[in-house]
Amino acid sequence: MGIRKHVTLHRLKEMHASGERIAMLTCYDATFAHVLDRAGVDVLLVGDSLGTVLEGRATTIPVSMNAMVYHTRCVARGNRSAWIIADMPFGSYQAGADLAVQNAVRLMRAGAHMIKLEGGGWTAPIVRTLVDRGIPVCAHLGFTPQSVNALGGYRVQGRNEPAARALNEQTAELVAAGAAMLVLEMVPAKVARELTQATSIPVIGIGAGVGCSGQVLVLHDMLGLTRTEPPRFVRNFLGTGEGIESAVSRYVADVKEGRFPDDALHGF
Ligand code: KIV
Repeated sequence: MGIRKHVTLHRLKEMHASGERIAMLTCYDATFAHVLDRAGVDVLLVGDSLGTVLEGRATTIPVSMNAMVYHTRCVARGNRSAWIIADMPFGSYQAGADLAVQNAVRLMRAGAHMIKLEGGGWTAPIVRTLVDRGIPVCAHLGFTPQSVNALGGYRVQGRNEPAARALNEQTAELVAAGAAMLVLEMVPAKVARELTQATSIPVIGIGAGVGCSGQVLVLHDMLGLTRTEPPRFVRNFLGTGEGIESAVSRYVADVKEGRFPDDALHGF
């Protein structure tokens, strides 16, 4: 793909209005930011999933603000034109709007264009405060990983009629508070499609079916780089066989067998 224009919030709204689906992936470092940007990914999400993917933790709950700032900086350095969203980690906004502003400012200074925070209802006043101060906000509803303990595990949300209605009400409150985008995680496809159709902002699904305004996946999941069985909704886009693991296996075998380096090519 050649040089493209910078993806702005205005451009994302245009894409949404014209029905062009938005492609989002998580990203945590400069090299992948460069590759994903060149490949045409519209939005790079510096997700707090870095806690599980990079730090090897069981959940995203222990992720620190310093880690989010560091990885946001790395992604911003490698990126040229994609829109960058950085996650507010657990504990960086739960205590209220003042703390949320301080921490969101750190992420914006590190190179984020927008911040994302999880939950509905209690988050609406925080979203309004951030938006009033010039900080674009992406909300996150459905399964919200920072609440995994309160939700009783990795469960699909919005399965029954009252739960689906609550999702719609929370979305309406967040939109009224100024949220410009919504990530909707692990929600039945029908619920996600209806919510997307009823909502004026782009809804980016993950495990929420094809009826959303766009999709997001954890980068390492879609490259098949997982330590445990990935969620059912993940597709491995690298394919099986010639993945990264098999490239590393071939390297090991070639070193052991003396096939690498090749004298003619690599000798000095
Ligand atoms: O942190 C993350 O990677 C996310 C995605 C699961 C949407 O929030």
